[in-house]
Amino acid sequence: MTKQTKIVLNTDFPDLRLIKRGKVRDIYDLGQHMLLVATDRLSAFDVVLPDGIPSKGDVLTAISAFWFSHMKPIVDNHIVTTDVNDFPDVCQQYRETLQRRTMLVKKARPLEVECIVRGYISGSAWKEYKRDGTVCSIKLPQGLRESERLPEPIFTPSTKAEQGHDVNISFDEAVSIVGRDVAQKIKELSLAIYNKAGDYALGKGIIIADTKFEFGISDGRPILIDEVLTPDSSRFWPLKDYAAGRAQESFDKQIVRDYLLTLDWNMEYPGPRLPEEIIAKTSQRYKEILEILSC
Ligand SMILES: Nc1ncnc2c1ncn2[C@@H]1O[C@H](COP(=O)(O)OP(=O)(O)OP(=O)(O)O)[C@@H](O)[C@H]1O
Ligand SMILES: [Mg+2]
Repeated sequence: MTKQTKIVLNTDFPDLRLIKRGKVRDIYDLGQHMLLVATDRLSAFDVVLPDGIPSKGDVLTAISAFWFSHMKPIVDNHIVTTDVNDFPDVCQQYRETLQRRTMLVKKARPLEVECIVRGYISGSAWKEYKRDGTVCSIKLPQGLRESERLPEPIFTPSTKAEQGHDVNISFDEAVSIVGRDVAQKIKELSLAIYNKAGDYALGKGIIIADTKFEFGISDGRPILIDEVLTPDSSRFWPLKDYAAGRAQESFDKQIVRDYLLTLDWNMEYPGPRLPEEIIAKTSQRYKEILEILSC
């Protein structure tokens, strides 16, 4: 990532068909393939902020590409290429914007279950545990503290809600959505990927507290799709600051969150502008994560 790229908040490619805009990515349809374009948009407290973060899209794409390749021995994935030179001709007129931030992927049939793996107890899982002693109907030992490492990683699927927040479901509910064989397979794959990634990241001083995978069916079998093990789909915590018994700082968004909490903002759209310094520090943070993980 030598060259500083221009900030891209929104893409608009008149000769390509936009399928959807997520909080961060713009998705285009190319028939059998799709373009997943990671913009530099940043969301905090579920609101997309008006400022972009330089290089964020490049970093997110590079992190996913790194993990897809690292997990190849365990699971096949949707990547065709991330090299803009190999994109179809119709994309070349947009190459300045597409380069480095875009994955050309095989279109798969996305499974209607999100595959969440948790190695540590945090977020919505911590809330459920405090209330019921369970996480997605899995009974956990008593006396766990917030952010504590679980005896072993657990698979806690959720539904993919088009609107609003995803809903946690039990493994049996996942079975009723995708069938027993597929549910069993994506559970095994998810745990295997998480374990391999978790060991790797820990060796680099990063805890992957939890993460979300998506699988799609391609040629009759599940492959890993979407993004994988990025700060947007995972909780990354710096190992050096980790202590159970409290919430942890987030590796990527803490600087922005801390700043936003000093403001009188109701956490609803539209979000506030960010000072130059906060933008620069956050950009640095993203680059740092990529460097730590992939070096
Ligand atoms: N290879 C693939 N084949 C088909 N669909 C895919 C593939 N890879 C990803 N997708 C789909 O593309 C969509 C990506 O959407 P995206 O994650 O950008 O937005 P979102 O999930 O609606 O919102 P958020 O920004 O909160 O993540 C998802 O619905 C995902 O299932
Ligand atoms: Mg998504």
